[in-house]
This record gives sequence, structure tokens and C-alpha cells, in this order.
Amino acid sequence: MAKVLIVYHSQGGNTEAAAYAVAEGVRSEGAEAIVKKAAETGVDDLLSCDAVCFGTPDYFSYMAGMLKDFFDRTFYPTQGQVDDKPCGVFVTHGGGGSAWESVDRMCRSFRLRRIADPVLVRGKPDEEAEKRLRELGSALAKVSWE
Ligand SMILES: Cc1cc2nc3c(=O)[nH]c(=O)nc-3n(C[C@H](O)[C@H](O)[C@H](O)COP(=O)(O)O)c2cc1C
Repeated sequence: MAKVLIVYHSQGGNTEAAAYAVAEGVRSEGAEAIVKKAAETGVDDLLSCDAVCFGTPDYFSYMAGMLKDFFDRTFYPTQGQVDDKPCGVFVTHGGGGSAWESVDRMCRSFRLRRIADPVLVRGKPDEEAEKRLRELGSALAKVSWE
């Protein structure tokens, strides 16, 4: 079964709710969704998934430090082993959202392949945002089957 890893950080619950909406989209395609907090996610998780999705709040126009820590810990041990792995990005924010660019730079450094536009959500995901997040999950699941 195709496996999609969803790595996120959340303090207030907005990004966590977004992560579970992405997971719904993954599962709707019959793929496995593994939702994990960035602080609890490591090298093996990144190596063993077929696709990965990164979620973060916008903190000072940058990703959350805990997600950056995940990237810092996993960069060397996964180098050359995740080239071209499909990835996606979602960000919750308070009116900005440009933090997606910092995550996108990481995707490029890791040589992952972003397969969809980043999903930006203001505050807690509403119905419309949940739909966009589910679509992101669905797209990641579909590309994992290929
Ligand atoms: C320390 C801190 C810095 C923030 N900086 C920004 C920012 O630069 N731009 C923005 O749009 N929102 C900013 N926010 C708002 C959060 O991105 C927003 O509330 C987000 O949805 C919180 O996600 P969470 O509930 O998953 O923790 C900031 C919040 C905190 C706590």
C-alpha cells in the first residue's frame, strides 16, 4: 500500500487540524496516511514513505523551529536516498503565509519533487480550506501509486 507521511508542527491546533484534513484526502484514495509531529519524526520515517507532506504555522514569515529541526536532523542521513520523492506543503497563518517559501527551499535542498501548489490556510481550516487540504492529500496518494 502506498504510504504518505504527513509531518507537521502545531502549537494552537490549526496546523494539526490541517494535517488531519490532508490525511483524509490520502485515505480517500486508499493509501496509508501517517500523521506525525515533527519533533517525533526521524530519518526512517522519511526514507520509508512513498510521498511526504510538510505542515507548519507561519512564524515570523518562516517555518516553525521544530520543523526546521526535523530538516536539520534528517538532511545528511537521507542525502541521495530521497531524490525525486513526491512532496507537498501546507501552512497555516495569521494573514501572511510566506513561510511556505522556507519549506519549499528545504524541499529543493533535499531534492524532493513538489507535486502541487502549497496550500495556505488562514487560521483554523474552514470547509473550503479542508477541501483544498484533502485535494493535496489525494494528489500525493495518487502520485505515490505511480
Ligand atoms: C511566534 C509566532 C509568530 C507568528 N508569526 C506570524 C507571521 O509572521 N505571519 C503570519 O501570518 N502569522 C504569524 N503567526 C500566526 C500563526 O502562524 C497562526 O496563528 C497559525 O495558524 C498557528 O498555527 P497553530 O495553531 O498550528 O499553532 C505567528 C504566531 C506565533 C505564535
